[in-house]
Amino acid sequence: MSEETIDMNRIPASVAIIMDGNGRWAKRRHFPRIAGHKRGMNVVEEITTEASDLGVKVLTLYAFSTENWKRPEGEVSYIMSLPSTFFNKFIPKLIKNNVRVETIGDITKLPAKTREAVDNAIEDTRNCTGMILNFALNYGSRLEILNATKNIASKVKNGTLNINDIDEDIFSNNLETSGLPDPDLLIRTSGEERISNFLLWQIAYSELVFVDKMWPEYHAEDFKQTIIDFQNRHRRFGGLVNK
Ligand code: IPE
Ligand code: IPE
Ligand code: MG
Repeated sequence: MSEETIDMNRIPASVAIIMDGNGRWAKRRHFPRIAGHKRGMNVVEEITTEASDLGVKVLTLYAFSTENWKRPEGEVSYIMSLPSTFFNKFIPKLIKNNVRVETIGDITKLPAKTREAVDNAIEDTRNCTGMILNFALNYGSRLEILNATKNIASKVKNGTLNINDIDEDIFSNNLETSGLPDPDLLIRTSGEERISNFLLWQIAYSELVFVDKMWPEYHAEDFKQTIIDFQNRHRRFGGLVNK
C-alpha cells in the first residue's frame, strides 16, 4: 500500500465501477459462482459506505448488464435475488448515511420480486440528500444510446425539436443518466481491461483505472488507493493545462 494519502479536496464527484470477478474469485476457492456474487454483495456495502464517507456525490455500480441474461438460469436467478437481500439488510444504514438509491437500465424486465425490492429502496431513500447510489441493472449503453436517439427523433418528427438544435447537452439529457455528472473515475476490478457496454457516452473523459483484484477482494483500503491513483493523473480534456 502506498504511503500517499488522499487529498480530501480532490475527491472525484462521480465514480462508476464495473464490479467484475465474482465468478473467478469463487472458482479459485472451489466455491460455486454464486458464492462469489454473495461475497460481492458485501463488498457493495463496504465500498458504498467508504465512498459516501469520502464525499463522493454519485456512485454508479454496474450490477447486471443487458448481456448477462445469457448466463445459466440458476446464476441469473441468484443474482436477481440479491437486491432484496441487500436492501433488507442495508436500507437503515443507507438512510442513516443519507444515501439515495437510483437505477439506470430497464428494471421493468426484472423479476417482479427484484423490481419490488428496488422500487422500495428508491422510495425509502427518496428524501436522502447525500450520495446517490446508482445501480445499473439490466443496463446496456448501446441500448441506452438507441433509446435516446429514438426519443430525439420523435421530438424532431412531432415538431417540438429542431434538428439543428440537437447538441451534446440535449443528447445527454435523453440518456438515462440525465441530470447526473459524467464519471470522473471509472474503475474495473478483475484485471479485465474492457468496458463491456457500460456508459459509453458518459466516459468520454473519465480516468480509467483497472484493478487486478477480483470484486469480492476489493476493500475500502483498495478503493482509497484507487482514488489516490486517480489523483495522480493529469486530466487535460483536450487542452494543455495540467490540472
Ligand atoms: C461480475 O462478476 C458480476 C456480474 C457480471 C453480475 P462475474 O460474474 O462477471 O465474474 P467473472 O468475471 O466471471 O469472474
Ligand atoms: C460486466 O461484466 C457487467 C457487470 C459487471 C455487471 P461481465 O463479466 O458481464 O463482462 P464481460 O463478459 O467479461 O465483458
Ligand atoms: Mg465478468
